[in-house]
Amino acid sequence: MTDQVLRGRVLTFFDHPTSLADTDSFGYWEDGAIAVLGGKIDWRGHFSELPERYNALPVTDHRPRLILPGLIDTHAHFAQMGVIGSYGAQLLDWLEQYTFVQETRFDCDDHSGLIASSYFDELILNGVTTSVVYGTSHKNSMDAFFAEADQRQLCMIAGKTLMDRNAPDDLRDTAQSGYDDSKALIERWHGKGRLKYAVTPRFAISCSEAQLELAGTLLKETPDAYLQTHLSENQIEIETTAALFPAARDYLDVYEHYGFLGEKSLFGHCIHLTERERAAMKDSRSVAVFCPTSNLFLGSGLFDYAGMSDEGIRISLASDVGAGTSYSMLTTASEAYKVCQLNHYGLNPLESFYLMTLGNARALSLDHDIGTIEAGTSADLIVLNSIATSAMNIRMEAADSLTDELFILQTLGDDRAISATYVAGNRFK
Ligand code: GUN
Ligand code: ZN
Repeated sequence: MTDQVLRGRVLTFFDHPTSLADTDSFGYWEDGAIAVLGGKIDWRGHFSELPERYNALPVTDHRPRLILPGLIDTHAHFAQMGVIGSYGAQLLDWLEQYTFVQETRFDCDDHSGLIASSYFDELILNGVTTSVVYGTSHKNSMDAFFAEADQRQLCMIAGKTLMDRNAPDDLRDTAQSGYDDSKALIERWHGKGRLKYAVTPRFAISCSEAQLELAGTLLKETPDAYLQTHLSENQIEIETTAALFPAARDYLDVYEHYGFLGEKSLFGHCIHLTERERAAMKDSRSVAVFCPTSNLFLGSGLFDYAGMSDEGIRISLASDVGAGTSYSMLTTASEAYKVCQLNHYGLNPLESFYLMTLGNARALSLDHDIGTIEAGTSADLIVLNSIATSAMNIRMEAADSLTDELFILQTLGDDRAISATYVAGNRFK
């Protein structure tokens, strides 16, 4: 644990920006300082006002770079690193032709460990310090994932996928084994260090009613666990779900029936929701997870960001690696902007940087610890270089404001724009 002072241009959000002119929504210190003690932020403000008690600490001067909270990804599949960029299919064919094939390899401890380690390396390169992750149906894939995350002191939320039908033999669990394995993983990892468990029924198509019932039992038995699943991503998926669950009013009703809705429930995609489903999402304070690169790559559709946020639905932003095509949340935000443009909404850069940090932390009910630069929160921090490439440098010459700079960072930036990543005060990049 490195006690230290970081100096740089410090930016953190206080609230959801209502417009580009909403300067109350964030704090910005042109010559700022962050004092880090025991892996936590102890103080932040103007460097000139740094209290004397920190005088003995080493200072790392990142000026003129920007220091922000570590970025947060609210939906990704670590076992799909080997799937990104698989050509020519939409959701159900993509799962069958590419994804399930790769996921079967995770019954092996060595392979799971290797990919978990590579996944965290990639996150650090991209300044992502928290991610909400699907494993495979194999319990050992999650043991490997959590062990590696714990060793790096990362705040991670993850779970073993539950899938007892409509998948290859090697990937299917049973309702009972899925329950037992999840239960054992919860006992071993949930609440250990900075780790949290998400009960993870893959989606309605791959779960029998008995399995969904037992997933609901797991949630009742672990009230502070998360729930993650996929919802209303693709038209054929929606029709298939309706045929499998003829008694359900709609897709979300399948999940509602088993008690899945709530503040800690994350529903990936939510592209084709009906009015009733949207109202139920809002009333239950469930989170709709916007995965722009995935939705474009699989041709799934355009997430209605403006409409759903106007209705008061909680929204988070995510990569959905490996249907999603980038580990970078900057690139993800850039694609979110384009999806919103196609829906005639201009997602402004304050809003997208809010989403990647405090917004996603709030969606995970973790804003007391991550997504912000406040005393008492974990020192998960990144340093951004707005002139990391010559293309960025040329464009930055014409930048006339902080918001312009942020928009350049998301539009032209990627892992090259992340010059440092700190996790609980330790520098990993
Ligand atoms: N629906 C069920 N499984 C998956 C998955 O792995 N990726 C995406 N994008 N959608 C899914
Ligand atoms: Zn997904």
